[in-house]
Amino acid sequence: MTVVEENPPHAVHSRVAELREIRAAVEQGPSERATEAQRSKGKLTARERLALLFDDGAFTEVEGLRRHRATGFGLEDRRPHTDGVVTCWGRVQGRTVFAYAHDFRIFGGSLGEAHAEKIHKIMDMAATAGAPLVGLCDGAGARIQEGVSALAGYGGIFQRNVRNSGVIPQISVIMGPCAGGAAYSPALTDFVFMVQGSSQMFITGPEVVKAVTGETISHDGLGGATAHASLSGVASFAYDDEAECLGDVRHLLSMLPSNNRELPPSEPADDPADRRTDALVDLVPAEPNRPYDVLRVIEEIVDHGDCFEIHARWATNVVCALARMDGHVVGIVANQPSSLAGVMDIKSSEKAARFVQMCDAFNIPLVTLVDVPGFLPGVDQEHGGIIRHGAKLLYAYCNATVPRVQVVLRKAYGGAYIVMDSRSIGSDVSFAWPINEIAVMGAEGAADVVFRRQITAAADPELARRQYLKEYREQLMHPYYAAERGLVDDVIDPAETRARVIDALAMLRGKYVVLPSRKHGNQPQ
Ligand code: HXC
Repeated sequence: MTVVEENPPHAVHSRVAELREIRAAVEQGPSERATEAQRSKGKLTARERLALLFDDGAFTEVEGLRRHRATGFGLEDRRPHTDGVVTCWGRVQGRTVFAYAHDFRIFGGSLGEAHAEKIHKIMDMAATAGAPLVGLCDGAGARIQEGVSALAGYGGIFQRNVRNSGVIPQISVIMGPCAGGAAYSPALTDFVFMVQGSSQMFITGPEVVKAVTGETISHDGLGGATAHASLSGVASFAYDDEAECLGDVRHLLSMLPSNNRELPPSEPADDPADRRTDALVDLVPAEPNRPYDVLRVIEEIVDHGDCFEIHARWATNVVCALARMDGHVVGIVANQPSSLAGVMDIKSSEKAARFVQMCDAFNIPLVTLVDVPGFLPGVDQEHGGIIRHGAKLLYAYCNATVPRVQVVLRKAYGGAYIVMDSRSIGSDVSFAWPINEIAVMGAEGAADVVFRRQITAAADPELARRQYLKEYREQLMHPYYAAERGLVDDVIDPAETRARVIDALAMLRGKYVVLPSRKHGNQPQ
C-alpha cells in the first residue's frame, strides 16, 4: 500500500504562492481594457480611490475573495473576485474608518446579492466598532440579471443606513453614475460628495425622462454635481477632481467624532481664545439693509479663519459650516445678508435644519449668528410649504441638546429671530451686539401696520410717519429692550465676540440634557 503524504513540506509554499497569485489577480481587477475604460472617463479605480482615502494608502480588505453564486444570463461563467465592490477598513488621521468602493470595471459596479451582502457586512462592522462608514459610489444600480435578489440587497443597505443614522457618521462619495437604488442610499447618509463631470445621481435617467415627460436633458444636466450641489441640494459638496474630493472627505472626518458616544476630536489651539475681533466693528454695516458677507464674520471669529462650509452653493442665504474655536469643533449657522438679504425660505430652512440635526447627533456645539429680516413672503413659498419647512428648523433646534450659543449681530425680526436659536427655544447663552434690532418687524413695516390710521389722518402724513418710525425705533429696536427682559444674556462689544463665545462654550462643556422618553418625535416633513 502506498502512503500518501497529505501535506508535504513543499505544498505549503506552493499554496502560499497560489494565494499570492490570487491576491495579485484580485488587486489587478478584471482586465487592462476595463481599467483603461475607467481611466478614459477621468476616473480612478476603486483601489486607487481607497488608497487616497486612507493614511499611507493602506487598508485591510474584507471578503476580497467573495464571488457570486448567481446563475443564468451567462453569470455562471463570469464570477470575478470581489463581485464588484471592495470592502475594507483603514485609518484616517490615525482613526479607524470603514469603507466600500464599487468597482465599475466589474458588471458596471452593479449590485447583486453577494455584492450587497459584502456592503451589509462592512456596515455592520462599522456600527459594531463605532467608526464612520464611507461609501465610494460608482455603480449602475441593481444588477439586472440577479432580479429581486439585487433589489432586496438595496433594502438591506437602506435599513442599515437608517439604523446607523446618528450613531456613526455616514459619508457617500459619488464618483460615477449612480442610478436607481444607488442614489437612495447616499440620500440617507449624512454627507454627499460629488465630482464634476464624472458623477451623476438620478432615480430615472435622461432616457426615461424623455420617454415619460418629453424633456430632453443630458446625464450631467439631470443629475451631475452642479445640478445636485446648487439646485436640488442632494450633494453637500462638489469638486473638480477625485483627489481633491477625497482630501476633503479626510478633512471632514477629522472634524467628526467616530460615533455618537464621543466628542469630536479637539486640537491644541494656538489661536488665542481671547483674541479680539476688532475687524467685526467695520465688517458689519449698522444700516439694517446693507449687505455684507457673513463668511468674513465667521472667519474672524473661528480659529485661524478656517471654516468648512457645507452646501456652499445651495440655499446660499444661510451658511452652515464646521470650524474650530479654541481647538474644539463647532457647527456654525449664520444668515447670509449678501444672498437674498439673508431671508429665511424653504431651502435655507431645510439646509439649516439638517445641519443642526447632524451637529446634535454628533455632539457638535452650535453657534448661531443671526442677521435676518424674516421669512420670505410669496405665493411660491406659502404653497411650497414654508410653514412645514420652517417648522423643520424649529424642530431641529428645539430638540438639540448640545451646547447652543446665539449671537444676534444686527437685525432679528419676527419668527425668523425665534427660529434662529433664540433663548425662548432653548439656546443656552444669547448675546447681542449694540447695533442690534430685535423686533417683531422692521420700523417701516410696523408703521404701515400699526400706525397707518394715525398717519393717514395726520395733517402732514409724511411728518407723522417719520415721528412714528422714530418712536418705534427708540422704544423697541435696540438690544436693551431684549436684555432688560432676559431674552439676551448680554450686549457685547463685537470685538469681544470670539472671546465671549469661547467662554460660553467652555462653561457649557459638561452640558447634559435628557429629553422626555418617547419612541421618537414626529418631525415635520
Ligand atoms: C448589470 C450592468 C448594469 C446593471 C450596466 N451594466 N448596468 N450590469 N446590471 N444595472 C454593465 C454593462 O452591461 C457593461 O457590462 C458595464 O456594466 C458597463 O456599462 P456601460 O453601459 O458600458 O457603461 P456606461 O456607458 O458608462 O453607462 C453606465 C450607465 C449605464 C449609465 C450606468 O450602464 C446604465 O444606464 N445602466 C443601467 C442603469 C440602471 O437602470 N440600473 C438599474 C436601476 S434600478 P460589460 O460586460 O459590457 O462590461 C435600481 C432599483 C433599485 O437600482 C431600487 C431600490 C429601491
